[in-house]
Amino acid sequence: MAARDRYGQAVTTSTPVDWAALTQAAVDAMHHAYAPYSRFKVGVAGLVDDGRTVSGCNVENASYGVGLCAECGMVSALHASGGGRLTAVACVDQHGAPLMPCGRCRQLLWENGRPESLIATPEGVVTFAEILPQAFGPDDLVERAEDRRG
Ligand code: THU
Repeated sequence: MAARDRYGQAVTTSTPVDWAALTQAAVDAMHHAYAPYSRFKVGVAGLVDDGRTVSGCNVENASYGVGLCAECGMVSALHASGGGRLTAVACVDQHGAPLMPCGRCRQLLWENGRPESLIATPEGVVTFAEILPQAFGPDDLVERAEDRRG
């Protein structure tokens, strides 16, 4: 039986990441972006700890503020296709170049990955912990929450 982490997710031995394939999946997703307002297409792909690849693209809206980042779509695809944890992520711009996720999306990645999960950035491959230092996360809710029982 596979080992499980503190979130109950299967822990698999890490295998080398095929960054070229992951980047290509992000580029493929980017071509589906709906970004008529910013004209800034984004694609992202993530490797899941069971070997699946999930991806997403940005989807804008005439009501500008409700536009969805590519990472939102990818995280939704992660859950809709069975859950699990992201182990490696590639996010690209319209030229296929690595793009740093915005602050909000770093938080999304944090909650759906592990501190040691990897992301390809313009400065090379780094961990999720490095792109969101001192991250706020589920543990903070548990450790700092008021006792709601009474
Ligand atoms: N965008 C993403 O999809 N992900 C990011 O991490 C940064 C920004 C999108 C949002 C918007 O549709 C466009 O890029 C310009 O900000």
